[in-house]
Amino acid sequence: MDFKEEIVELLAQETKLKREELMNLISVPPNSTMGDYAFPCFKLGKNPKEEGEKLKSKLILPNAFSKVEVAGAYLNFYLNHHYLAEQTLKTIYRERKYYGKEDLGKGKRIVIDFSSPNIAKPFGIGHLRSTVIGNCLYKLHIFLGYKAIGVNHLGDWGTQFGKLIVAYTKWGNETELQQDPIKYLLKLYVRFHDEAERDASLNDLARDEFKKLEDGQKEALRLWELFRELSLAEFKKIYRLLDVEFDSYTGEAFYSNVLGKTIEEVSSRVSTEVSDGALIVNLEKYNMAPVLLRKSNGTTSYHTRDLAAIFYRIQKYKANKLIYVVGQEQKLHFQQLFKVMELMKYDSEMFKHVDFGLFKFPEGKMSTRKGNVIFLEEVLDKAIELVRKLIEEKNPDLKNKEEVARQVGVGAIIFADLSNDRIRDINFDWDRMLSFEGETGPYLQYTHARACSILRKAESERKIGSSEKVNYDHFQLEEELKVIRQLDKFNHVLKDVLKTYKPHTLARYLLDLAQAFNEFYHQCPVLSDQMQATKARLLLVDCVRQVLANGLDLMGIKAPEEM
Ligand code: ARG
Repeated sequence: MDFKEEIVELLAQETKLKREELMNLISVPPNSTMGDYAFPCFKLGKNPKEEGEKLKSKLILPNAFSKVEVAGAYLNFYLNHHYLAEQTLKTIYRERKYYGKEDLGKGKRIVIDFSSPNIAKPFGIGHLRSTVIGNCLYKLHIFLGYKAIGVNHLGDWGTQFGKLIVAYTKWGNETELQQDPIKYLLKLYVRFHDEAERDASLNDLARDEFKKLEDGQKEALRLWELFRELSLAEFKKIYRLLDVEFDSYTGEAFYSNVLGKTIEEVSSRVSTEVSDGALIVNLEKYNMAPVLLRKSNGTTSYHTRDLAAIFYRIQKYKANKLIYVVGQEQKLHFQQLFKVMELMKYDSEMFKHVDFGLFKFPEGKMSTRKGNVIFLEEVLDKAIELVRKLIEEKNPDLKNKEEVARQVGVGAIIFADLSNDRIRDINFDWDRMLSFEGETGPYLQYTHARACSILRKAESERKIGSSEKVNYDHFQLEEELKVIRQLDKFNHVLKDVLKTYKPHTLARYLLDLAQAFNEFYHQCPVLSDQMQATKARLLLVDCVRQVLANGLDLMGIKAPEEM
């Protein structure tokens, strides 16, 4: 049920304004004494107050509203509290984990390219951001009725593999490789660059090796496969910890056989040039560097592989939209890519780069800087370790301590990421992030656990909360109504995130819900001798618990029942 839409409908009939315009004009007043929704009348004529009065006299209010008043230039709509409470709480109680779900995306197929780390390199913090943001968008699309396909476009092809093969053949051995594959490969990679500074011929060797790989030479392929498999096994450990899944791991290498065809396809539809022996799409007209289709030595580029992936995704998945959750530093790459697609007469609305800023660590605080990278696994381990200590301190008798420590530690990191506008850089602050108070994941999880504990207590006292026989007129206090209004907004917020690809709106919403709930909980005794009040408030607690759980789940955060 959508109150705002009801007002839009009402006003669309009585004014000349379009629905879309009305939708944008109607706002939620800062203070509920001014009503639940406000419509500014200045669009109606020179004297807004008079116009407001005129309009008001024509309106026949739907059941959801108790009154409408003119205040200054505004028309203020007041919700019927009984109706609001009954509709909202009954719906949540009935729909449970499906509350907020919709069929909005019916028939639409969205490919979300996220995480996409590079083989033989550490899973970086940038990849964590992509994983977490991408996973949230993936889950949200599914929840709102889209067919979403999550693709991990592994960086498993490119000249760096030439370098690795050279380094490994010259200085490496399999025993050390097996022990700690990614760190070992990183060491070889760093050494390659060191030595190549003194001996540039190494770079030529590396190019040759990559060429061999693209030509399908056996030994090169064997080494590449070994590096890939060992790295992927390590990445999967992280995905298990984060509880993230993909529909496909088709990375860059997957396209190596179709790159010739891809280049032909592009060349047949946009004009290409040969420049210094390389085949390019010149984008000078659009103020962009050229797209390199084929390098002078015949090997392909990151661009070519991404173009191949686009054709594949459109064909294989019948995708209506392709979303890329990748850091800001690749902005140009995607602009170039999308420009080529546009020149090939694809609808540019089909493509979206969901970019994000950096995760910044306080200098020196992470002891794991090796080769100038932070190992994500160590970040996660540290978060879990800190939560373990907190639990020992605060609730040593907790059941499933280890499981909860993991859920809260990982949740803290995910939330620290998703609660910030993705465009901004985030300063990593351990203390702030793990606090059970303030704007953190653990605070939300704790609020959820508190609601669960109230319900458990009620059950043990045989005060069962359900939507049966609740007197909805009970809800009169502002603390209660605030919670109910917030619960009602859940679905709007989800749609907003879908439109902007900005999960922090959902994070903000959940924080506000938790805040409203905690105020309610401090002001209004839930379990009392008054049957009516107890029944009504227990239902409210149950609904808050449910919506917190639904919201956290969409963010990829677990909601333990006790902590
Ligand atoms: N592997 C790349 C990197 O780590 C990210 C890939 C993003 N996806 C894509 N289709 N280009 O920088």
